[in-house]
Amino acid sequence: MKIKIRTIVILLVLGMTTAAGLIYFGIYNVAATEQHTAPVYKLLEYAMRKSVLLRADSSRVPDLSNEQRLRSGTTHFRAHCVQCHGAPGVAPEPFSYGMMPAPANLVAAAREWEPAELFWVIRHGIKMSGMPAWEYRLSEQEIWDIVAFVERLPTLSPQEYEQWGKQVPAQASPAPARLSEADNVALGAGDAKAGERALQQYLCVTCHQIPGVAGANRHVGPPLNGIAGRRYIGGVVLNTPENMVRWLQNPKQFAPLSAMPDLGVTNKDARDIAAFLSTLEDLD
Ligand code: HEC
Ligand code: HEC
Repeated sequence: MKIKIRTIVILLVLGMTTAAGLIYFGIYNVAATEQHTAPVYKLLEYAMRKSVLLRADSSRVPDLSNEQRLRSGTTHFRAHCVQCHGAPGVAPEPFSYGMMPAPANLVAAAREWEPAELFWVIRHGIKMSGMPAWEYRLSEQEIWDIVAFVERLPTLSPQEYEQWGKQVPAQASPAPARLSEADNVALGAGDAKAGERALQQYLCVTCHQIPGVAGANRHVGPPLNGIAGRRYIGGVVLNTPENMVRWLQNPKQFAPLSAMPDLGVTNKDARDIAAFLSTLEDLD
C-alpha cells in the first residue's frame, strides 16, 4: 500500500514538472497555424459542450417561427455573424480562415444544438475560441431572432439566402442606447457588481490597470486604483458620479485629444461601471 501511494505521488510530481517545463521553456506552441493535438481538441470540445448543456435554459424558448423574427435574424446575421461563419454559398472573410479553432459552419451547429443552447452560446460567447459574447451588443429579443435564422440554415438554399439579403439590406450595428437626461435620472444609481462584469465587455481591461480584475494590468491609460478619491477625471473635469458617467460614454467631450475612445457604452452600463469605479478607493 505504501509503495503504491509513493508511486502515484512520484508520477503526479513528474507529470506536473513536465507540464511546467513545457510551458516554462516555451515548448508549447501557441501558433494559430498549429492545430491542437487530437486529444486536446477532443477535450476542449467536450468541455465546451458540457458547459453549454449545464447552463442553457430550455424552459424559456419563445416562438421562433414567425416571419418578422426571421427577417430581423437575417439582418443581424449579416451584420454580425457571416464574417466569421459564412452562410449558404457565402465564404466568410479571409481573416477567419486563420482562426484556431476555425469558426464552424452553422448548418452543422443548427443540427447539433437545441435553440436554447444556441441562444446561450451566442449570448455568452466561448472563452479562448474567438467566439464573441453578444450580451452587451444585442438584446435578448435580437439574439432569439438570430437563433430563429440559424435554425432555418439547414434548409436554406444559397439562392434563398441571397434573395433574403435583397429584401433586408445589411445593417450596421444599431447605435447603443443613449437615453435622454430624464431617463438618465430615472435609471438611478448604478449597480457596482453589474459594473464590474460590464467593464470586461468594453475593452477597459486592455488599457487600464483595474484592481481585482484579472488581466487588467495594462498602462495605455492611467491605473484606475484610487480613482474614487481623485479630484478630477482625466485631469480635466470634477470627479462627480454624473461626470464619470459622461466621461465613460464620451471622454472627448471633456478632453478632445484623449486617447480614450468612445466605446459605445450604454447608459445603464456606464452607470454600473461608474458605481464600480466609485468603490476603488485604495491606491494599491
Ligand atoms: C470573430 C469571429 C466570430 C464571429 C463574429 C462570430 N463567431 Fe461564432 N464562433 C466563432 C468561433 C471561433 C467559434 C468556436 C469554434 C467553433 O465554431 O466551434 C464559434 C462558435 C459558434 C457556435 C458554436 C458552434 C459549434 O457547433 O461548435 C455558434 C452556434 C456560433 N458561433 C454562432 C455565432 C453567431 C450566431 C454569430 C453572430 C451573432 C457568431 N457566431 C459570430 C467565431 C465567431
Ligand atoms: C484604448 C485605450 C483605452 C480604453 C479601451 C479605455 N480607456 Fe480609459 N483612458 C485611456 C487613456 C489614454 C486615459 C487618459 C486620459 C486622457 O487621455 O485624457 C483614460 C482615462 C480614463 C479615466 C480617468 C482616469 C484618471 O486618472 O483620471 C477613467 C476613469 C477611465 N479611463 C475609465 C475607463 C473605462 C471604465 C473603460 C472601459 C469602458 C476605459 N477607460 C477604456 C485609455 C483607454
